[in-house]
Amino acid sequence: MAAGHFSSSQNNSRPQNSEFKKIVFWICTIAALGGLLFGLDQGFIANSLPTIEDVYHLGVEGGEAYAAVLATGGVIGALLSGLFARFLGRKRSLILAGFLFSSLSIVSATLPAIGLLTACRFGLGFAVGIASFIVPLYLSETAPASIRGSMGTLFQLMITIGIFLIAATNVFIAKIFTNPHVALPLMFLVIGIFALVMFFGSFALPESPRWLVLKGRKQEAVTVLSKIFTHQKDIDGEIEDIQQAIDSDKGVSLGGIFKGYFIKILVMGIVLQMFQQLVGINMMIYYAPTIFGYAGMTGLLAMLTVPTVNMIFTFPAIRLVEKWGRKKLLYVGAIIMLVTMVAAGLAFASIGNISDPSQIGMLPKAVLLISVIIYIFGFAVSWGPVAWIICSEVFPIEGREVGMTITTIVNWSFAGLVMGNALSFMKAHGNASIFFVFAGFCILAMLFLKFFVPETKGVTLEEIERKLKAGTPLKDLGNN
Ligand code: BGC
Repeated sequence: MAAGHFSSSQNNSRPQNSEFKKIVFWICTIAALGGLLFGLDQGFIANSLPTIEDVYHLGVEGGEAYAAVLATGGVIGALLSGLFARFLGRKRSLILAGFLFSSLSIVSATLPAIGLLTACRFGLGFAVGIASFIVPLYLSETAPASIRGSMGTLFQLMITIGIFLIAATNVFIAKIFTNPHVALPLMFLVIGIFALVMFFGSFALPESPRWLVLKGRKQEAVTVLSKIFTHQKDIDGEIEDIQQAIDSDKGVSLGGIFKGYFIKILVMGIVLQMFQQLVGINMMIYYAPTIFGYAGMTGLLAMLTVPTVNMIFTFPAIRLVEKWGRKKLLYVGAIIMLVTMVAAGLAFASIGNISDPSQIGMLPKAVLLISVIIYIFGFAVSWGPVAWIICSEVFPIEGREVGMTITTIVNWSFAGLVMGNALSFMKAHGNASIFFVFAGFCILAMLFLKFFVPETKGVTLEEIERKLKAGTPLKDLGNN
C-alpha cells in the first residue's frame, strides 16, 4: 500500500478542475459513513440489551455472546479484506460493505430466530472489518494530500459519533415504544438507514486510479483522472507516478516480513493493540448501563454518560497527539485509567453484597460515576486514537499491509474477549473484581510503554524504517 497518488508532491501543482470538489465531497462522505457504521454497530448493544432480553430472553451469557460475535465477524472481515481490495477493487468492496450493512440490519429488524439474528451480527462485524480496512486504504489512494490527515481523524471521530448516536436513539426508541417487538426493529432500522446511504452512495464513487492501473485498466484510470485534472499532461504525469509507485512496490520483497526486525516491530504492534483492549474500554462501551444498573443507577445518566464523554474527548486528542506526542499521551491515559479503575473497583467493593440496589448509598454511586467519566476521558484522549496511529506509522513499507492486518485482527480478538466475558466474570468473581483486573493491565501497559514503544511524533516513516533495519532498540526508533 504505497502513499496515495493524488497526494504526491507534484500533484499539488497540478490544477484541478471543478469536478474535483464533488469527488472529494463523496470521498469524505463515504469515509464518514464507514466510520459511522462501525460506531453504530459497536455502540448498538449498550442501550438495546434490555430490549433484546425482553424479546429473546438470552440471559447474561447469551447477551454477551450475541454482543461479542461482532468481533468474530470483524476478525474474519479484516483477514479477508486485503483479498477483497485486490480482487474486487476498492469501490466494489465498499459497495459490498454497504450492502452487508444494510441488508443485515434489515433482516435483523424482522426479529428472526436467534440463530439468524446472531448470523446477521456476525455479518455486520464482517462488514465493519472490511470497512475499517478499505476506507483508510481508499482514502490514502484518492484523497488529496491537503485533507488526508483530517480524513484519518474524521474516520476515528465518526466511530465515536456513531457509538453516541445509536446510544441516544436506542434510549429514545425504548422510551417511546414500550413494546419491545416494535422498539427492537426500529433500533436496527436506524443502522439500516445510514447503511443504505452508504450502499447507494458508494456507486457514485470513482474507483481508485491506482487499483485500475494495478489491474492494467489504464484507460479507465485516465477517465477517472480526467474528472480531476484539466490538462492531458497532468493526467499522463499522474498515471506515470502511479505506475512508478506500483513498480517500486513490486520490487519490495515480501520476504522482508520474515526478517527479525519486522517480527520485532510486529510483536510491538500486537501487544499495543492487545493492551488497547485489555484496559477494558469495551466493557464500558458495551455494558456501562448494565454495570451502572448493578450499582442502582439507571436513567439517562447511566445510559448516555459513556458515549457522550467518549465522543467529546476524541476531539482534543487530535491536537494533543501532535503537541504532546504519542507516548506521553499513552502514559497519561494509562495512569488515568489505572486510578479510575481502582476507584470504581473500590466503589463496588464497598457496595458488597447489597442485593437491593435502592439500598446503595450516594457515595459509592458518585465515586463510580465520576471514575467512569474520567476513565472514558483518559481512554478517548489517548489509547483510543493513538494505538491505531502508531500501528499505521511503524511498519516498513513491505510489511505495512500485513502488519496492519495482523494488529487489527489482534485488536478485534481481544475486544471479543472482553465483550464476551466481562459480565459473566463479574457474576462469577464479584462486581469489583474485573475493575482490578483491568487496573492490573494498565500497569503492565505502562511497563510495556517504557521498554518497547517508540515515540513516533514528528519522525518520517522512512527514518523509522531505517533505524528499525539498523537494529535500533524499539523504544529508540523515533524521537526520545
Ligand atoms: C477501539 C474500539 C472502541 C472505540 C471506542 C477504538 O479505538 O478500538 O474497540 O470501541 O475506540 O471509542
